[in-house]
Amino acid sequence: MGNAMSDLFDNIVPLDPPFERMAEGAVLLRGAALPFEKDVLAALDEITGQAPFRHMVTPGGFTMSVAMTNCGTAGWVTDRTGYRYDRCDPETGRPWPAMPECFLDLAARSASRAGYPGFRPDACLINRYEPGARLSLHQDKNELDFTNPIVSVSLGLPATFQFGGLKRNDPVKKFPLRHGDVAVWGGPSRLCYHGVLELKEGVHEAVGRMRINLTFRGAL
Ligand code: SIN
Ligand code: FE2
Repeated sequence: MGNAMSDLFDNIVPLDPPFERMAEGAVLLRGAALPFEKDVLAALDEITGQAPFRHMVTPGGFTMSVAMTNCGTAGWVTDRTGYRYDRCDPETGRPWPAMPECFLDLAARSASRAGYPGFRPDACLINRYEPGARLSLHQDKNELDFTNPIVSVSLGLPATFQFGGLKRNDPVKKFPLRHGDVAVWGGPSRLCYHGVLELKEGVHEAVGRMRINLTFRGAL
């Protein structure tokens, strides 16, 4: 930042931590989930007690290295027949656990800080990465309506996020994601390719030997 700019900002007390721009319409809110940490981790235990993490199978027949579960009205699932949102957990036949209030608050607050006011997600995909797990470049496009942003919360071990463009071969930028960081993408970047590089070995003091990611969507 130039000197004139830093002099200017020296006199401003920010209400929220600064945010980093990933692309047009896409931002990283560093530490935005930290005030919600305790409530979110407690709610996660409840959810995964009712709908345990499982390794789903892609339509092509590969077992995903990331283990997943969901909460909310709809949950993202994959099996040999394809990707879809389902109101019920295919493992139990029961509806997914309800979206906790602290999840809704965190998602709505993050979206509005990123310039997307009024976000009320109906789906939260919960991803668990153990060391060695990765998620290859993909678009989030199983949702009915792309006017809602994606809000993506990182907890636990750090990871490297790849954020590209609207075409698979567009160049990707890499961003470190740490415990408490929230990435939000919508508008012109809603369909950008993104992925997570292989998780490195480690143990996080609050979360253990894993990274948890909450991805909030308006699915239905
Ligand atoms: C996802 O794209 O569903 C997950 C992204 C992440 O784990 O940060
Ligand atoms: Fe995604």
